[in-house]
Amino acid sequence: MKIKKIKLIYFSPTGTTQKVLESLAKGFNAEHVEHYNLTLPDEGSSVIPSLSDELIIFGSPVYGGRLPAEAIKRFKQLKPGKTLAVSVVVYGNRDFEDSLLELNNLAIELGCCPVAGGAFIGEHSFATADAPIANGRPDSVDVQKAMEFGTRIKKTVEMLPSVDAHVELNIPGRYPYEGGVRSMPVTPQTKEQTCTLCGTCAAVCPTAAISVNESVATAIDRCIRCCACIKNCPTESRYWDDEMMKKITAWLTDNCAARKEPQVFLAGMQRSSK
Ligand SMILES: Cc1cc2nc3c(=O)[nH]c(=O)nc-3n(C[C@H](O)[C@H](O)[C@H](O)COP(=O)(O)O)c2cc1C
Ligand code: SF4
Ligand code: SF4
Repeated sequence: MKIKKIKLIYFSPTGTTQKVLESLAKGFNAEHVEHYNLTLPDEGSSVIPSLSDELIIFGSPVYGGRLPAEAIKRFKQLKPGKTLAVSVVVYGNRDFEDSLLELNNLAIELGCCPVAGGAFIGEHSFATADAPIANGRPDSVDVQKAMEFGTRIKKTVEMLPSVDAHVELNIPGRYPYEGGVRSMPVTPQTKEQTCTLCGTCAAVCPTAAISVNESVATAIDRCIRCCACIKNCPTESRYWDDEMMKKITAWLTDNCAARKEPQVFLAGMQRSSK
C-alpha cells in the first residue's frame, strides 16, 4: 500500500511524545503530515474520517505503566474508521509495562488496523535539573531511532496488499492490564514572589485545573500531575512541595538512572531492541 498522509494523534502534556511522533513521521517521509494534538481540554472531540491511503500514529505518555485516563478519554472520542495504525508510548526511563498493549488494543477498538508499536523514552515529567531522570530525552539518538522506525514502518506498509490484510503483530503486555496511577490529592505550588501572573500555566494545563487572576489557583481534583505547568513556567515559579512527590522523584532518580533504549515491534516480525 502507498501511504500519502500521516495523521499524528497524541496526548502530550510535556511535549516528549509529540517530538517522538514527529521524528517517526519524518522517517516515514509521507507527502502530508496532519497533527491532532489532543492535549488541551477543548481539543478532544474531533471526528477524523480517514481514507485508505492514510496511516494514523497514536501517541501517549505512560502513567503508572498504563495510559493516562485523560488520553484514553480523548482517543475514545475519535472516529477514525478502518485505517492502518501505529501505537507509540513514551515513558520516563522506568518502564512502559502494559501501556503499549493498551494503546494497540484501543486502536483496534476504534476500528483501526495496527501494523506496528513502539516504546520510546522521554524526560520524566517529574525530573528537574537537580533530580534528573532521562533529562533531555528524546535526544538525538532517540530521534534517529524514531526516524529509522518510521522508515521501517513505511517498508512494512508498502508490502501490505490492503488495509485489512492479515498481519501478525506481537505487542508485549498483560491483559487484564495491571498498574495505573495512584490517585494523589496534590498539585504543584506557586512561588508568589516570582510569579508574574502571565497565565502560561493555565494555557498549557490539559485539564483546565489552573485559573490565574490576582493569584494562581489550582483545582486539586482536576490535577493529573502531568507537570506541564512546571516545565512551561517562564519564571520557574511552579514546583512540588509535597513530601510523597519528592520521595517518588528521589526514588526514580536513584533507581532509573541507567539508560533504556527504545523498543519497536513490527507486523510479521519478532520483538527487537533498537
Ligand atoms: C503521573 C505520571 C506517571 C508516570 N508514570 C510513569 C511510569 O509508570 N513509567 C515511566 O517510565 N514514566 C512514567 N512517567 C513519565 C512519563 O511517561 C514521561 O515523562 C513522558 O515522557 C511524558 O510524556 P509527555 O512529554 O508527552 O507528557 C509518568 C509521568 C506522570 C506525570
Ligand atoms: S506560568 Fe509561572 S509565572 Fe506565569 S502565571 Fe503561571 S506560575 Fe505565574
Ligand atoms: S495543574 Fe496539574 S494537570 Fe495542570 S498542568 Fe499542572 S500538573 Fe498538569
